[in-house]
Order: sequence, then structure tokens, then C-alpha cells
Amino acid sequence: MKILAFETSCDDTSIAIFEDDKLLAMDTASQIKIHNITGGVVPEVAAREHANAIFWVLEKVLKEASPHLTSPKGRGIKGLFEHIDYIWVTTNPWLLPSLLTGTTVASTISTVLQIPIIPINHIQAHVFSNFLERKESFVKFPLICLTVSGGHNDIYSMKNIWDLEKVGSTTDDSSGEAFDKVAKMMGLEYPGGPIISKLAEEYKRPVSIETGLKPLFPRVWLVKKEADFSFSGLKSAVKREVDKRVEKAGLLSQEDKIEISYEFQEAVIEVLAYKLVQVALQKWVKTVMLAGWVSANNRLKEEITRLAKKHNLEFIFPIKNLYCMDNAAMVGILTHYKIKYWEFEEKIWVVKL
Ligand code: KG4
Ligand code: ZN
Repeated sequence: MKILAFETSCDDTSIAIFEDDKLLAMDTASQIKIHNITGGVVPEVAAREHANAIFWVLEKVLKEASPHLTSPKGRGIKGLFEHIDYIWVTTNPWLLPSLLTGTTVASTISTVLQIPIIPINHIQAHVFSNFLERKESFVKFPLICLTVSGGHNDIYSMKNIWDLEKVGSTTDDSSGEAFDKVAKMMGLEYPGGPIISKLAEEYKRPVSIETGLKPLFPRVWLVKKEADFSFSGLKSAVKREVDKRVEKAGLLSQEDKIEISYEFQEAVIEVLAYKLVQVALQKWVKTVMLAGWVSANNRLKEEITRLAKKHNLEFIFPIKNLYCMDNAAMVGILTHYKIKYWEFEEKIWVVKL
């Protein structure tokens, strides 16, 4: 079974081709450089970039997978499509103008070439990124999954592969958004997460702080026993600290940026890791899992590893950082399992948003 998967929900134009659970080819056009100019993703700009990139990404992926898609001579790209059994495309949630580009192109191919199309949920695809390059039995249920990225910050309880119950969420910003906004406050580029986490690694805590001084920023627990999050108060606390230092010295020094990055990251990570593990303990579940691009954060993985070890839990996260970010491979692997477990009696050629 060969699958062509599209992911255009935010600022990455990603297309992949799968044969069953094996990734044959994938390419992603990132829009980071463009969104750096505006300091974040402007939906209309993102949609235009998707429209400009999607056809050359598609051509590149088809050519890369062509040794596995042998077509009669002279049939060119059209011949390669003859090997595709299903098209899958992200339809929700996220930025509507971005989603429109992917769904329109995918539905057009589906209608013209009569290849059935199936809609995919972006968050569920992030969760399934944990199955990439792994045997199905590697992921043990029941489990608790933390999905953290720019657009979402949720905890899910999963009794089995299809049972995804949301047990906690953010009441305002997501953690990824907070990383982006704090980076902007300090004059750093977009996306803020990778830059802040890199700066934080450079921080050498003064010995006096190690021996008991209070952290610079508060830990926002809301109700500590519950699985909800809030990051807007922390963001305001960082803003106050940045303003104070700028007022005093006229600008933020590199040392200031390193210290604030470290302190901010610790404040986010401590709460994320604690709440994930706490939900697992409350529900008597033995496995915790991580998904979304924030899960590429080394400190977050380190802290969850520490807590999981302490409480005798297994901790699963995507095998490559490439699979943490928005990518069509996670759409493709979710498709593989849907085809394996679900019956698609009624075929459709157009997806609705
Ligand atoms: O999954 P994603 O690409 O988009 C959504 O579906 O929302 O996540 C993007 C977010 C950005 O906010 C970015 O700053 C954050 O993930 N991010 C990180 C790291 N790498 C990316 N946050 C913290 N640490 C990182 N290493
Ligand atoms: Zn995402």
C-alpha cells in the first residue's frame, strides 16, 4: 500500500511517500526565514509560501521515491501517481489559509486521478510521530502523552492506539508560543524555542544561587494536582525583568540573554515535566510520551527522563528531532495505522475544512 501524505497546517510545506510503515521519501520547505522578518507566522504570508512551494516539493518527493514507483516509459510524473493508493492530508486544527493550500492541491490530485483521499488531524499525527521507525509494540498502552508545540499544549490519556482523551490543556498560550514571544522580547529570531534552549545551555549558575537563592521566574502551577497550564503570567514576568534590565543598562547584554533564557526555560520545563508525570501516577499508567516540536528540547527530555526514572515509568519520545517538528511523515505513519485498523468503505475525493 502506497500513501502520499500532505502537511501544510502552519509554516512547513511537507510531503511524504510511504510504503506501508516505511518512509520512502520526504521533503519539507520551511518558511522560517520569511517569518523572521515579521517576528512570527502571518497566516496569509504562510499560505502564499505554501502555494509557491507545494508543487516543487511534490515533484522532488515523487522523483526521490521513483525507484519504488516504477512506471511505464514515457508516463513521467503522471505515471508515478499511478502507484499511489491513498492520499492523506492534514485538515485541522491550525491556520486555515495554510490548510487550504494543502487540502486544495491534495483534493485536486485526488479528484483528477481518482485516488481516494482521507483527512487527518494534526495533533493525532504529532502523537503518531512516536511510531516512526519503530515496531508497533514499542509504544505500550495505556499511556499519557504531552503534546507541546506552537499551537497546542495538551495532555492526553490514551487507553489504546485510537483512544485519545484530553485531560489537560493550556488556559492561554502554548509553551512554544511562550518561547517565541520571550525570544522576541529579547530581540532574538523566530522560532524562539531552539535559540533560547541553545542560549540556556551556555548558562553557568553562580555558586551562590546553587545554594538556595530563589529562581528568577515563578512556576505557574494553577492547581498543582490538575493537568492545566498557563504561560501568560510567566511571559509577563519575563517582560518585567527584561524592561528592568534595559532601563538600568540601556540594553540587554549577551549574559542577560543567556541567564533569562535559562531561567525562563527552567520555569516552563519544570511545570511541563511535573504535570505529565503526575497525571501518569494519578491514573496508574506506566508509560509517558512526548510529541510536538517543543519535544525536541533537550532539557525537557532530560527532566522527564529524571522523573520517569524516579517513579519507574517508561518514557517515549520521537526517535529523531525531524519527527518532532511539523512533517508529513507523521501524517503518513498515522495513515498506515488507520488503513491497518479501519475500514474505509466509502471513498471520497475531496476533503472539507
Ligand atoms: O509543532 P510545531 O512546528 O508547530 C505547531 O504545530 O504548533 O511547533 C513549533 C514551536 C515553536 O513555537 C518553536 O519555538 C517551538 O516549537 N520549539 C521549541 C524548540 N524547538 C522548537 N521550543 C522549545 N525548545 C526547543 N528546542
Ligand atoms: Zn505541529
